[in-house]
Amino acid sequence: MGLRGSLFWNTLRLHQWMARRLNLRLLTIPRGEFTCIRTMGYDNVSKPALGLYEKGGDYCRHRALELVREEIGDRPGNVAELGVYKGESARTINYCFPDRKLFLYDIFDFLARDPDTLGNEPPTENYAEVYQNNSSPSLDSTEIIKKGLPHPENCVFRRGYFPETAAPDVDEKFIFVSIDAGSYDTIYKGLEFFYSRLLEGGYLFLGIYNFACENDVDRRCKQALIDAEKAFGPFKKVPLPDWRGTLVIVK
Ligand SMILES: C[S@@+](CC[C@H](N)C(=O)[O-])C[C@H]1O[C@@H](n2cnc3c(N)ncnc32)[C@H](O)[C@@H]1O
Repeated sequence: MGLRGSLFWNTLRLHQWMARRLNLRLLTIPRGEFTCIRTMGYDNVSKPALGLYEKGGDYCRHRALELVREEIGDRPGNVAELGVYKGESARTINYCFPDRKLFLYDIFDFLARDPDTLGNEPPTENYAEVYQNNSSPSLDSTEIIKKGLPHPENCVFRRGYFPETAAPDVDEKFIFVSIDAGSYDTIYKGLEFFYSRLLEGGYLFLGIYNFACENDVDRRCKQALIDAEKAFGPFKKVPLPDWRGTLVIVK
């Protein structure tokens, strides 16, 4: 059993114990190695889109986004994701904000990589540089991602290396942003670009923040955040106990 497998079984026992003590119903949904856990007790606060979640994904992150959407209400602003990969979290963002323009920034070349191995591999430090040479312009994955999005007509695909690809968007304002990248440079530049364009009452989800794994990806993410706070902060922060330790920044 790999690291992720043993982590899962340890946290499952903890969740089972908590569920018994709190009298909650605990459901496990097998999804390959990444089995998802959800507790139902607090979901009565609003109608969760569990149908979407059940296609697979991180319940805590997914549900947090839905509740954040309710807090945002009808405040204006676009939404964005930096680091889309196959579009799993982009699908939830697009679902939660059906009428808003969703800006999606990525190299969009997963067809050029080995989807079976790289899909589960946290990005390495020089991620962008490694794939710059391997990506093939003819293997554009945006069309496949569009098929999984509930409102693709509202999505703007910015294919290539961020922050260069954000040049047309300097005048945009955002009410929700997800940064789910993995390399120090991308995260730092993402915070620089998006925090200044995040509207009051807006939220920024920073993925892979409290995520202990072998290649120290969360250490790079934390360092990027420390440096960004020195330059543009301090930020108001709330850590989430989701699978990859998302940090929520509230403006
Ligand atoms: C962890 S994956 C994103 C996972 C995705 N949010 C999901 O829900 O599955 C990280 C992504 O960041 C992208 N990325 C990293 N640095 C980038 C950069 N400088 N410009 C564009 N994309 C970048 C990679 O291509 C990769 O697809």
